[in-house]
Parts: sequence; structure tokens; C-alpha cells
Amino acid sequence: MTQRVALITGGIGGIGTAICQRMANDGMRVIAAHHPAEDEAAAEWRANQAADGFDIEILSLDVSSYDECAEKLGQLLSDYGSVDVIVNCAGITRDSSFKKMQKNQWYDVINVNLNSVFNVTQPLWNAMLENGFGRIVNISSVNGQRGQFGQANYSAAKAGMHGFTMALAQEGAAKGVTVNTVSPGYVATAMTDAIREDVRDAIVAGIPMGRMASVAEVASAVHFLVGESHGYITGANLPVNGGLFIS
Ligand code: CAA
Repeated sequence: MTQRVALITGGIGGIGTAICQRMANDGMRVIAAHHPAEDEAAAEWRANQAADGFDIEILSLDVSSYDECAEKLGQLLSDYGSVDVIVNCAGITRDSSFKKMQKNQWYDVINVNLNSVFNVTQPLWNAMLENGFGRIVNISSVNGQRGQFGQANYSAAKAGMHGFTMALAQEGAAKGVTVNTVSPGYVATAMTDAIREDVRDAIVAGIPMGRMASVAEVASAVHFLVGESHGYITGANLPVNGGLFIS
């Protein structure tokens, strides 16, 4: 079988790294996209991955820029022949109660977390349909499912991601392209480290499993959805949240 090519945005972040490693272990050719401001960090990350036995390529890409994605992903497609798997994992938080939320806190989160799924997916979409195979996984959040105090921007973007999943799943269904969402709960990463300690402690105390998820537990859900034999699962929202939100 031909080697699948997987593009992971937010690829050098906490969850992204675990997904890249899992896809590499699955025998895929993996490309980790990272923000252009992180070019140096990404080169170092790549060297560390190589030292750990993971051969992962990197791509400097501002996912919030439509033009940059169109140009660089068009090039990627012609360089690699196909991109078979997309994991839209790039995301930021700009938490604030709504009464204090600034315009840039709203727009930055919508641009990076939601507009990015359009920017990244669209240049690769037609080729997936033509190839008759594709796996797209959008990394949303429990807070897109249930809302969160201080995250009107983030919850809106993450809920929007799953709306995108449900619509696109219908457009890809007849062509072998599945589109699914993974909605992690609180995961031990730099993003959750940034939450004020007392607030974080209260959140963890409210998780039925009494702990955050590991990044590997999220990667495991993505691994499942992109599997060759899981082509009948589409439009789903798979929670990985320790029981924090059950619907
Ligand atoms: N529910 C209801 N009221 C709350 C509240 C809550 N959860 N948290 C704070 N408040 C109230 C306070 O009691 C206070 O009330 P009064 O004004 O009546 O005294 C008021 O809100 C304080 O408002 P402030 O704007 O001053 O709040 P703050 O600046 O102290 O903190 C915040 C705001 C930074 C958003 C803080 O609440 C926070 O960090 N919350 C956590 C947000 C969160 O969960 N982020 C997740 C990040 S990780 C991630 O996003 C990954 C993922 O997918 C899960």
C-alpha cells in the first residue's frame, strides 16, 4: 500500500507532537506545520524528534492566512503528490470574561482556531475527492460542546469547528473522505499550564476522572479515526474528556 501523507497543524505543540509521533509510528509520512514565528523552535523540535527516532518534516505556515495556505499547501500537494490526512490542531486561547474581552482577543481566536480549518482544508480538499480517499480530523474542545466561563471566543470557534465537520462530512461521504472531530477535555499541556493555578485546581477537581488527559490519550483517538478500516465513521464528535461532559 502507498504511504499515506499526513499534515498536522499545531504540529509542534503538546497535543500536535503526540499526534505526529503516533502517525509516524503508523508508518505515515508526517509533516508538522508550525507558526512562522516558531521557525527556530521548529528546527530544534525536528532535531529532537529525529533523535527520538521520529522522522517528521516541518512546514512553516500561518494557518490564519488564506493566501499563505493557498500558496504553501498548493506547493505541498504538488511536491508530495497527495495529502491524505489533515489534522487541524492549531489553536490558541485568549481567555477573558466577556465584559473585559478586547476585539483582538475575539478575532485572534476566531482566525487561528476556526478560519484556519477553512484555510488549511480547502487547498487540499479537491485532491482528496479525486483520489477517493481522505481523513480529516478537527481538534475541537469540550468547551465547544458545553461553553466555558472566560472563553466566549474559544467556545464559539471550537463549536464552529464541529459545525464545519458535520457539513463537510456530507460533502466527502460519497468520495471516501471522512471528516470527524475530536473534542479533548483538559489536557496536560502548556495551554492548561497557563490557567491560573487556583482556577485550574478547581477545574481538575470537577473532572470525574480526577485528572487531566495525557497528550497520548488524545493522539490515540485521532489514530483511531484516521485508520484505513474506519472509513464508515464520519461527522462524529469523539470526546476525550474524562467524563467532564457527557451527551
Ligand atoms: N463561573 C461563574 N462566575 C465566575 C467564574 C465561573 N467559572 N469564574 C469567575 N467568575 C466570576 C467571579 O466570581 C467574579 O465575580 P464578581 O465580579 O461578581 O466578583 C468575576 O467572574 C470575575 O471576573 P473577571 O473578569 O475579573 O475574572 P478574572 O479576570 O479573575 O478571571 C478568567 C477570568 C481569566 C477567564 C478566569 O476565569 C479563567 O482563567 N478561567 C478559566 C478559563 C478556562 O477554563 N480556560 C481553558 C484554557 S485551556 C483550554 O482552553 C483547552 C481546552 O480546550 C479545554
